[in-house]
Amino acid sequence: MFSVPETLVGATLVVVLWWTMSDLLSIRDISKIYEEGQTQVCAVNHVSLTIQPGQVVLILGPSGSGKTTLLSIMGCLLSPTHGQVWIGDQNVYRLSDGELSRLRCEQIGFVFQSFNLLNFLTARKNVEVALNLAGKRGREARERADQVLRQVQLGHRLDFAPRNLSGGEKQRVSIARALANRPRLLLADEPTGNLDSQTGQSLGQLIRDLAKNEGTGVVVVTHDNRIENIADRILYLEDGILKDEKIIGNA
Ligand SMILES: Nc1ncnc2c1ncn2[C@@H]1O[C@H](COP(=O)(O)OP(=O)(O)O)[C@@H](O)[C@H]1O
Ligand SMILES: [Mg+2]
Repeated sequence: MFSVPETLVGATLVVVLWWTMSDLLSIRDISKIYEEGQTQVCAVNHVSLTIQPGQVVLILGPSGSGKTTLLSIMGCLLSPTHGQVWIGDQNVYRLSDGELSRLRCEQIGFVFQSFNLLNFLTARKNVEVALNLAGKRGREARERADQVLRQVQLGHRLDFAPRNLSGGEKQRVSIARALANRPRLLLADEPTGNLDSQTGQSLGQLIRDLAKNEGTGVVVVTHDNRIENIADRILYLEDGILKDEKIIGNA
């Protein structure tokens, strides 16, 4: 009878354990200084933070506190002046440009306050574009786009253009687009900023449910404390400094 060698089972367990226990994202002593002529603006000031799989982290801060800068650094869209960014066991600024853009495309999904949808494309095509960028095409891309749009309860809006969708629906398309490639990390910049209170709260809940189902790590930066209830951890950002942390019991 066929039997798997014990050493192989042991080695597999170690790899799985290491994978599930390792930080999804780790930023270490990050600072960002913008130079503007003679003046310097320190937008992020010595921030360190780790995110675990399946964890929903909310970073609350007023306008100008450095939220977008910090999130852009976490998503490897902007390089810090100082510090390191690790995704899993990869120090991202040791990667080549090609490796970095592949990592971004496959492992990180972004959601923005202003949705950033392509207005001349249908909801389905907007999601397909993200899949195409990750090398998925034709029927495979279409089926995955439809599947993820149904997950965000937009199965009845597949062929609608953004102009025919409500604000909440547009943001759900952008969440579908962000999740299409099954990223390990979802980063959202003021995702409820353009939505009324009730739509914002149900959108926040949707992000939380999807993250919990898929084991996706989520970071939401916002000044909207009405969505505090979606978070496992809340951090407060002020003048580029992480001031405080609240761990919530529902993690
Ligand atoms: N590209 C930039 N060049 C110069 N200063 C910037 C730039 N982006 C942001 N800042 C400044 O950095 C600070 C933090 O900005 P930002 O990260 O956009 O904060 P938030 O998203 O919390 O509003 C602000 O003082 C802002 O004016
Ligand atoms: Mg911002």
